[in-house]
Amino acid sequence: MQVLGIETSCDETGIALYDTERGLRAHALHSQVALHAAYGGVVPELASRDHVRRIIPLIEAVMREAETTLDAVDGVAYTQGPGLAGALLVGASVASALALALNKPLIGVHHLEGHLLSPLLSADKPAFPFVALLVSGGHSQLFFVRGVGQYELLGDTFDDAAGEAFDKAAQLLGLPYPGGPALAQLARQGRAGVVRLPRPLIDAPHLHFSFSGLKTAVLTLVRKLQHEGRFDDQTRADVALEFEAAVVDVLAAKAFAALRQTQNRQLVVAGGVGANQSLRSRFAGEAVALGVRVYFPEMAFCTDNGAMIALVGALRMADGVRDYTFQVKPRWPLMELEAVERAA
Ligand code: KG4
Ligand code: ZN
Repeated sequence: MQVLGIETSCDETGIALYDTERGLRAHALHSQVALHAAYGGVVPELASRDHVRRIIPLIEAVMREAETTLDAVDGVAYTQGPGLAGALLVGASVASALALALNKPLIGVHHLEGHLLSPLLSADKPAFPFVALLVSGGHSQLFFVRGVGQYELLGDTFDDAAGEAFDKAAQLLGLPYPGGPALAQLARQGRAGVVRLPRPLIDAPHLHFSFSGLKTAVLTLVRKLQHEGRFDDQTRADVALEFEAAVVDVLAAKAFAALRQTQNRQLVVAGGVGANQSLRSRFAGEAVALGVRVYFPEMAFCTDNGAMIALVGALRMADGVRDYTFQVKPRWPLMELEAVERAA
């Protein structure tokens, strides 16, 4: 079964073709980073217009790369939410029109389920059940994943998401949008232990997060350094390194505590912050020491992409799930998803 996946929830147009037997056949992505950079963040109307411009050429490119045609597609999957309403509508419209024209099933996919299951796109993949740390621009959550649609929320953030904290700290350091990767790059020049930031809730007896206090601590530190005339390039790099270390320390402490709590030995790290190299090496090192396995999606599938949407569409369609409604859900709690009994 071949499923075309369409992702347009935010500032990336992602298209992919996933085959339940042969795996990922082709994928293509257009990032709008350059388009929004001048504004310091995503401008929703510009995002929608750019999805309109890119979506058809990208679908054509994926068909060419897979050396197939739309007639061979068995179903169309699109990101139904959460995300920007106008941006989601572009993907929903094109997916619905295609499904109607081809007389093939249509399915609306939850964006976060895409991130959660994205490690299943790799050859070396985890088996259910596993613990998943989902760290993106809008979410910092820990789940116990029993199967497709079977997600038990173990921990959540009380305020900011990890990616949001990266973006805000980057802004305070005068870095351009998107902040996370820019801050990580600056941190490479940082010296460890020169400045100190808190590790919020690291010792708390639960699996929840809080990052807004860390953001305030960065603001206070930056002001102090500026006041003392010490806010030079080297010191900015020192702050970036300490900030990254603080977030990674907290995420690692909670994620490995979740493994202990569930007595599970497989950890999946998904979402944009999972692209962070310092996080990856820290988690990989700790996993070896503890004798557990940690799975990251391939770098290309860490941030938003069409492959994870095509994958979820295929997993759900293979179990008979169909959804012909034209709908977008800008706000959509993951816990509202229905479980798929026979997980693939
Ligand atoms: O999953 P994603 O692409 O979009 C959603 O939020 O769904 O995640 C984007 C987030 C942004 O906050 C971005 O700053 C962060 O992931 N991010 C990073 C890195 N790459 C992306 N944060 C830290 N280090 C990175 N290398
Ligand atoms: Zn995302």
